[in-house]
Amino acid sequence: MGVLSAVLRSLRRTTTISGLAVGALALSGCAGSSLDQSGSQGSGDEVKLGLLVPLSGVYAPLGEDMRDGFQLYLDQHGGRLGGKTVRVVTVDEGETPQTGVPAAQKLVTQDRVTAVVGVVNSATALGLRDFFHESKVPLLVANAGADAITGERSSPYVWRTSFANGKVGAALGPAVAEEVDGGVYLITADYAAGREMVGGFRKAFEAAGGKIAGEKYTPFGKTQDYQPYLSAIRNSGAKAVFSFYAGAEAVNFVKQYKQFGLADRIPLYGTGFLTEGGVLNAQGASAVGVKTSLHYSTELDTPINKAFVEAYRTKHGKAPTVYSVQAYDAAAALDKAIAKADGTGGEDIAEALGGIGTIDSPRGPWSFDADHDARQKYYLREVRSDGGSFVNAVLGELD
Ligand code: PHB
Repeated sequence: MGVLSAVLRSLRRTTTISGLAVGALALSGCAGSSLDQSGSQGSGDEVKLGLLVPLSGVYAPLGEDMRDGFQLYLDQHGGRLGGKTVRVVTVDEGETPQTGVPAAQKLVTQDRVTAVVGVVNSATALGLRDFFHESKVPLLVANAGADAITGERSSPYVWRTSFANGKVGAALGPAVAEEVDGGVYLITADYAAGREMVGGFRKAFEAAGGKIAGEKYTPFGKTQDYQPYLSAIRNSGAKAVFSFYAGAEAVNFVKQYKQFGLADRIPLYGTGFLTEGGVLNAQGASAVGVKTSLHYSTELDTPINKAFVEAYRTKHGKAPTVYSVQAYDAAAALDKAIAKADGTGGEDIAEALGGIGTIDSPRGPWSFDADHDARQKYYLREVRSDGGSFVNAVLGELD
């Protein structure tokens, strides 16, 4: 299908997706850069980028961290990437594809950005893959972990600076199989990310000899009371729990896990989103002892990370998160790609992304693999109290 028909089809879909979605589009300038109203792609010495992150819904705090991480990189580089002045158009991804897909389409068809950075929700990323592929506009996914978009549905235009869901789950499988003597209960938000993180964990855990004691998929974005599920866990005889929740759902789940009396009896494991950043501040003491796998912690003891944490704190008044780093690194990847590209068109930049090599990141060095996913280390983390605040202490590397 040609680009024009893809765009028309997308616009038709935008209209049908709902007036609601249009209402949910929040448009704001950011990154110390002016919001362009001209509908041009940016020209000559300038490049126009779209930032698509949730500023509403259960994942809004994640989106704010991504915006802040992207902004920090730009500030540290004089508002320029690859020698070009950057203009950023920011739109609200919202909670689901119903808001995220039309928001992305607007960036491409109306604002005519050269590339888009962002996307938190896996279902939204899956809904956008064909649109970016057919429009030939690079999408740098700076969170959403949907396995397929750097797997069987990879595209020359889709690159990921974050992770694939299955890999983050799988990283923890062997460690839990070794630590836990008895069955493990799986519980997660019921959508692509949760199913894939649990799926990746299960495969690696069972391969290492682990046994599953039960499983539950809770309605995404709608579950506030986890008590019925916690009762099922208690009655299952499980010796540990593995879970994926993020944002507001992670806060509720971990607090209720403690209040219900499970934390002291059945150790809680998960992917690191369960205890990350603002979520951990809100969980407080309830989260102490939770063990997770992730490709970042503020506690990584490297000069690059220490400098990053300090600069981020100075600029934004709080600690960074994995979401901040993923967006910071998307800016770093674009910086290298724009500098290398033959022109400033989307196709030039997509091609150049393949040759940028290793990025020395606060998370440790990483590079794009053949499917455009981040090849990186995963760390085993444990929540500890640190003089009145709470941190994800790094216990070691996972393989
Ligand atoms: C996802 O939908 O892929 C997702 C969302 C939030 C996270 C991690 C993954 O923290």
